[in-house]
Amino acid sequence: MKGNPRHLGFSTRAIHAGQAPDPTTGAVTVPIYATSTYVHDELGHHKGYEYARVQNRTRAALEENVAALEGGHAGHAFASGMAAISCLMTVLKAGDHAVVSRNTYGGTYRYFTRVLERYDLHFSWVDTSDLAAVERAFTPATRMLYVETPTNPLMDVTDLAAAAELAHAHGARMAVDNTFLSPYLQRPIELGADFVVHSTTKFLNGHSDSLGGVLVSTTAEDAEWFALVQKSAGAILSPFEAFLNLRGIKTLAVRMDRHEANARAVVDFLVRHPAVERVLYPGLPEHPGHAVQKRQARGFGSMVTVDLGSFAAAKEMLDRLRVWSLAESLGGVESLASHPASMTHASIPPERRAELGLTDGMVRLSVGIEDVEDLLADLDQALAALVGARVAAAAR
Ligand SMILES: Cc1ncc(COP(=O)(O)O)c(C=O)c1O
Repeated sequence: MKGNPRHLGFSTRAIHAGQAPDPTTGAVTVPIYATSTYVHDELGHHKGYEYARVQNRTRAALEENVAALEGGHAGHAFASGMAAISCLMTVLKAGDHAVVSRNTYGGTYRYFTRVLERYDLHFSWVDTSDLAAVERAFTPATRMLYVETPTNPLMDVTDLAAAAELAHAHGARMAVDNTFLSPYLQRPIELGADFVVHSTTKFLNGHSDSLGGVLVSTTAEDAEWFALVQKSAGAILSPFEAFLNLRGIKTLAVRMDRHEANARAVVDFLVRHPAVERVLYPGLPEHPGHAVQKRQARGFGSMVTVDLGSFAAAKEMLDRLRVWSLAESLGGVESLASHPASMTHASIPPERRAELGLTDGMVRLSVGIEDVEDLLADLDQALAALVGARVAAAAR
């Protein structure tokens, strides 16, 4: 298309933002600019590109694209979601304090507690769905409120507009990890967030074939700082991975609709199943975050957590699945099942997991976009064994 699509609809932006036809050939798809350096026309004159750690056209297209989808000022792309989070945290200085959602991704918890605390940064882990608890956690040194919503795997939902207001009233800025819902379902910047981070590894790329991260900022000053950190620390996304992400994002809207439709059918099945003790999904009217998420997001996503009551039951189900794959990660077209306590959240000490309510019987489902009948039939056969075992145990 011609012109800037920033004011156009979500899918139009997903397909066109940052992706004007290639000026050399007119190629409709942004090429993979596989080059480490760029020729200068003459000393002191170049085309705006000097060295690929600093500028790469394919990466720049993805950065503009995600910034346009999130409604931010600029984006910066990194080699992983964790690299994006680590760039974000450079806005803090020694002595600063951050209030963080208590149930973030385990890798974020590990990075903050085992790495950043060595540099005199301080963290309070709070249930950010409880705004009074958030308010109590602020100190005069608090500079950031870091939120994941819904959380992983407990599905705590935070009221983003109210949380941003609180953060700003206390002189802090709010960062949101929007990986679980993607900008199609939730746009934190429109609700007051100052920063959004993504593991593009998940829904944005959507095909489980690339690792990456994007950090979206809302001011020119922050964007300038992140560009400096990006080129200085160098954890950039490669042009090939940027290309995969651009390709994945073009179908984000249709994928998310299908992910969510399948998730609703899976949840309907699970809530009725006798082997399932509890289903955590914000789309259920009885979920404590249901009303907030309904208000602040376009949908409820496709991440579902089930509690089967014990490690043995979780293992039995996971070992029996055939269409669903037992694997870490989420957000790909294929359905995945994982065991948070021993996989994604293993770096959280057992006593802390117990405090959070993250049990050994929990299984996290990332509902893919396969034929839903096949997903349901597979769950049915995997859970049937548990019902049999329960009946036998009760009879003994
Ligand atoms: C919510 C969330 N944020 C961040 C990350 C880290 O992303 P990456 O694995 O791309 O470094 C993950 C990874 O699972 C995640 O689930």
